[in-house]
Amino acid sequence: MSTDSCPPLSGPSFDADPYPAYDWLRRNAPVVRLPLPGCSAWLVTRYEDAVAALTHPALSKDPAAGSPEWRAARLGLPLDHRPTMASHMLNADGAEHARLRRLASAAFTPRRMRGLRARAQEVTDELLDRLEGPEADLIAALAYPLPITIICDLLGVPEEDREEFHRHASVIDSAAVSDIDKVTEATDALERFLADLVALKRTRPGDDLLTDLVRRSNGGEIDGDELISTAFLLLTAGHETTVALIGNGLLALLRHPGQAAALRADPALLPDAIDEMLRYDGPVRNATWRFPTAPVVIGGQEMAPGEPVLVSLLSANRDPAAFSDPDAFSPGRVGEPHLAFGRGPHYCIGAALAKIEAEVAIGTVLRRYPDLALASDAAGLPWWPSAIMRGLFSLPVRLR
Ligand code: HEM
Repeated sequence: MSTDSCPPLSGPSFDADPYPAYDWLRRNAPVVRLPLPGCSAWLVTRYEDAVAALTHPALSKDPAAGSPEWRAARLGLPLDHRPTMASHMLNADGAEHARLRRLASAAFTPRRMRGLRARAQEVTDELLDRLEGPEADLIAALAYPLPITIICDLLGVPEEDREEFHRHASVIDSAAVSDIDKVTEATDALERFLADLVALKRTRPGDDLLTDLVRRSNGGEIDGDELISTAFLLLTAGHETTVALIGNGLLALLRHPGQAAALRADPALLPDAIDEMLRYDGPVRNATWRFPTAPVVIGGQEMAPGEPVLVSLLSANRDPAAFSDPDAFSPGRVGEPHLAFGRGPHYCIGAALAKIEAEVAIGTVLRRYPDLALASDAAGLPWWPSAIMRGLFSLPVRLR
């Protein structure tokens, strides 16, 4: 144990650059008990331990397996407590998880992914065509609206209902974790919205994911609560994360102009560069809650049944035991695969779609704006103060 102390694990300096704190934890307290409002949680920070936790058969994803203190603290927000929104794969284990995951994955067909790539290009072009001045905020102009449009297309939200959909989703996206009343109200509204949408798909089926799920519910493979919960999960899991990938990825390139120049010269390098953006400064700070169903030992630390466990994906992705020179942004690096999409049974089902959106958005920005530069001091950029996500509120740039 070294004598220096751990940099703060919350607050503006941590939001702006959490990596020195993670580095300290990996070296001094790799599995640490983190105090939270109303309870405490284990935080796992090393790559090897993160893989062990994400794939551990005795770490449950079911919120009912959480300790009474964790459940009373309601850190999972109202969402983990209502069957109409919480009956989805990310809260399920074993055979139930496999069934819910299989039903939704079936909708991510290669044909649908090709269609969504073309659609992402069309939407990106339209959004960038609207930019007139020499400066822009690339989060508001592109990174935020692109993923929500693609999710609406995937789910089959009709054009005329999208504004309402955006309104509820943006309250949930932007409200502070502590603002439970505001989140509850928006969640109620979104629940009614999704229930109406499901009813619509029964009478007016389309070529979309929700229609696929409605057909399967007619066959008894998925019930009504699970259907609405799955739609809700896809919306929340697939939106903010992709906003943050596009934003954090563009920021990494703005801070590494040599890498941006290499991608402009050879766009075929883009898929590898996106993977490095995911490793270097990924969108998801910690994987979602896990709870031991029996005593579990990770990194030499015993965890008791019910104790909440968080796995720091950001920290694991900078572990020098897994990545050489981990703080360098080096597209094309060889070594361990990053954990930005998780690992094991709950590995992200939207990973391919998220990469398509990022390739289109970032590739198009690089092509259209050869002189792109940051318009503000990178040290003053506003980061979301979120325990789960790592993303920017705004990314002011000079386009030309
Ligand atoms: C699961 C990250 C985009 C849908 C996950 C997990 C991570 C993740 C880390 C695992 C969580 C855990 O084990 O606790 C990301 C990132 C994205 C992204 C970084 C963008 C860059 C998407 C998109 C969709 C999506 C676009 C859907 C359209 C899901 C679903 C799960 C999931 C449904 C749950 C899978 C399961 O429980 O089996 N994602 N995601 N994600 N993601 Fe993503």
